[in-house]
Amino acid sequence: MKTETTIQGLTASLSPARSSRKSIGFIPTMGNLHQGHLNLVREARKLCDVVVVSIFVNPIQFGPNEDFDNYPRTLEQDRHLLAEVGCDIVFAPSVEQMYGKQPRLTNISVSDITNDLCGLQRPGHFDGVAVVVTKLFNIVQPNFAFFGQKDYQQLAVIKQLVRDLNMAIEVIGVPIARAEDGLALSSRNGYLSEQDRQTAPVIYKSLKTAEHDLQAGQALSEVLAQIRASLTDAGLVIDYVEARSPMLQKVDQFDQDVVLFVAAKLGKTRLIDNLQVKHSA
Ligand code: PAF
Repeated sequence: MKTETTIQGLTASLSPARSSRKSIGFIPTMGNLHQGHLNLVREARKLCDVVVVSIFVNPIQFGPNEDFDNYPRTLEQDRHLLAEVGCDIVFAPSVEQMYGKQPRLTNISVSDITNDLCGLQRPGHFDGVAVVVTKLFNIVQPNFAFFGQKDYQQLAVIKQLVRDLNMAIEVIGVPIARAEDGLALSSRNGYLSEQDRQTAPVIYKSLKTAEHDLQAGQALSEVLAQIRASLTDAGLVIDYVEARSPMLQKVDQFDQDVVLFVAAKLGKTRLIDNLQVKHSA
């Protein structure tokens, strides 16, 4: 496995694959990798000739009071994990390599679906994601890109971006990887105290109860209220508990498939999760 830290180095490493028309699979990450990321690499490995993973903590997607400075940087550990699951090239650029020294004058903003859910709580976040992902796509020029469904809204934003800007990339969403107790794996889980880690699975449990209750005929508004009550009783501070259609449209009844979304703080750690609930008509 190679590690490249410059765009030039990466381009040179990918050049033989490009000239022999091998398929390139790409997984953008911010490092501090867990099984969720490694599952993305495994999926890419199944489908693509060459697998590239980027590790870049992108400053422009963090708000002023967010955890950019403290975001865990664990490159050596990440490299070992990636080698074990068959990654071919790690791209780990510096901020200067990605953004240069001149001011950036171009922004990329996906409207509508970003003015909701995490977009309301984290203004500018999805613009920062759209810019860095576009830059990474231009640098790597992959055929396939893999994203986790845990960041469901991010996945929808990237799919929209790729469609709107005619990028010749197939975006593949990979199901959420969970701990045995149901907690969705996340780099931020490492911030949880031991006690909060015991509490955190309440999110998934309340989503599963909601799925059961919806499918048993309970009203969507009641089910959402029950999720809110369970989380609040367990000591979480809710950012949002919402239902949307799979395309992120607002829904007020369970008369089609819905996705239930939770974002809540446990201590200082913000956790997100979602569950797709099938409507069997
Ligand atoms: O999901 C993430 O880790 C980041 O938002 C991404 C897609 C790597 C862009 O920085």
